[in-house]
Amino acid sequence: MTQILATVAELRAALAGPRRSMARIGMVPTMGALHDGHLALVAESKKHSDQVVVSIFVNPTQFAPSEDFDAYPRTLDKDVERLGGRADIVFAPSAREIYPAGYATHISVSGPSAGLETDFRPHFFAGVATVVAKLLIAASPDVAVFGEKDYQQLLVVKRLVRDLALPVTILGVPTLRESDGLAMSSRNAYLSAEERKVAGALNRILKDAIARAQTSGDLRAAEASSVEALWAAGFSHVDYAAIRDSETLDHITTLDRPARILAAVKIGKTRLIDNMAV
Ligand code: PAF
Repeated sequence: MTQILATVAELRAALAGPRRSMARIGMVPTMGALHDGHLALVAESKKHSDQVVVSIFVNPTQFAPSEDFDAYPRTLDKDVERLGGRADIVFAPSAREIYPAGYATHISVSGPSAGLETDFRPHFFAGVATVVAKLLIAASPDVAVFGEKDYQQLLVVKRLVRDLALPVTILGVPTLRESDGLAMSSRNAYLSAEERKVAGALNRILKDAIARAQTSGDLRAAEASSVEALWAAGFSHVDYAAIRDSETLDHITTLDRPARILAAVKIGKTRLIDNMAV
């Protein structure tokens, strides 16, 4: 039976007993609108813990005023149903619980947050780092699980945890994909049938760029041709398609170390991101 809790005090009280009996706690931070990709994170968390906490919180500080905070799907009852008892606790706080009146503390992680998403969503990683720090401090899990789909976010969270010496292991889980390869995302629900068809091209174009980078060794040409292919496929905007060092996201010119291609595009009002190992 999943407990649904809304305050940090309730969460800590619920975890105190299991912690005393040496249970390992796993956490999966989410913004809800759960899909199979989230269930894979929960399954990974279960492999490493005895008690699984799924947090569901649409975090206002990671949205710019022009973004989809108001429209973001809030489907708590459906999410709990979707979890089907896989989570021991669903932590679904209010915005006031996380950001009480007069809230004044924000965490800014540099390093892996430089460029890519930050060039287009400069507010994003401070919002993510702040809320993730708060969630990790609230639950004190032994492990916390994040999707590789938000690859830059995963690196930012790992750096946050390392730099603040938070006693938690961060695990990344490979992206789950639809049958045409589109990365699963809560934002896919915004796509019209026509947009959904175009969206499926993103992963194919990234795979082509990887093949091109591997055969020619010319990473800039591979990036440029993928940007061109994305425009031609019908995306309404291409924010970036970039091949970077997969540990640091630094610029690289040759494939002499593990690399990752990362991309962000818009289709109508919906922004999609994806990434793959090169
Ligand atoms: O990836 C997400 O869903 C969010 O950015 C996260 C990590 C739950 C923080 O709000």
